[in-house]
Amino acid sequence: TPPILRTLPALRAVTSEWQNAGETIGVVPTMGALHDGHLSLVKAAKETCDRVITTIFVNPKQFNNPDDLKNYPRTEEDDARKLARFNIDAVYVPDVDQIYPEGFSTTVSVSGLTDVMDGVMRPGHFDGVATVVSKLFRQTSATDTFFGEKDFQQLQIVRRMARDLDIPITVHGCPTIREIDGLAMSSRNLLLSDRARVKAPLLFEEMENIVEGVQAGQEFVDLQERAINRLQNAGFNKVEYLEIRANDDLRLLSAPTHPARLFAAAWLAGVRLIDNIAI
Ligand code: PAJ
Repeated sequence: TPPILRTLPALRAVTSEWQNAGETIGVVPTMGALHDGHLSLVKAAKETCDRVITTIFVNPKQFNNPDDLKNYPRTEEDDARKLARFNIDAVYVPDVDQIYPEGFSTTVSVSGLTDVMDGVMRPGHFDGVATVVSKLFRQTSATDTFFGEKDFQQLQIVRRMARDLDIPITVHGCPTIREIDGLAMSSRNLLLSDRARVKAPLLFEEMENIVEGVQAGQEFVDLQERAINRLQNAGFNKVEYLEIRANDDLRLLSAPTHPARLFAAAWLAGVRLIDNIAI
């Protein structure tokens, strides 16, 4: 099993040796409750880098809702067991004061990309993400990092942040891993009741229908309206957004005239689900 490091000095003790040896260091930031989506990033990192660190930190600054922070699944022992298969070099599980010491007062905020979708629905969320991710990049001295397309907006924000702050790291985007029934894997899926879990795959099904419809020449607005109705009739409480946006700057498109994705966020039985697919 990989060593679990809980302090920055303990982390630096290992990374400085790797740096001196000229080795590449891949970091996979997570909030734990690991599933096969996270593990696909670990696998990609192992294939690309000499050394791999997985970080597990439930970042209080990115939760805009205190109940969400309180209820977020924490499964550290299972996580360590799952990671043991991958022969990684360290698991960094920092105590909160290792990331946010007394008096911490800096926020990293990426404008533009954060002004849409989850940036609007979850005020402050992406500032919390950009702040913790820039800390983790600096603390680990990583040369490479691996993020899931599941959180495509986050991926683009992290890319922008690393470029803007001259953090010398290559950001690798990795495909979304799904359950057999199509539901995108997510730690929050653990919070779905059995009844809600059965309904959850409908979100991805409706998204695929839209992509097929658009490709067959149907109007996006019509497809969008029908999908929202069907989701609501099936028991989804609220569809926050279901829209096409350009990959590069996430600007809203009425049709996929540029490389684009279909993005969705919807509530089901008190759980917020997000997904996105190429269109
Ligand atoms: P978390 O939700 O734990 O996700 C960690 C990483 O796993 C992210 O890059 C996310 O996109 C990726 N991921 C999650 N589900 C996936 C799936 N089904 N397929 C592929 N990749 C998937 O995202 C965060 O944590 C946090 O915001 C973090 C970046 C760690 C900062 O706190």
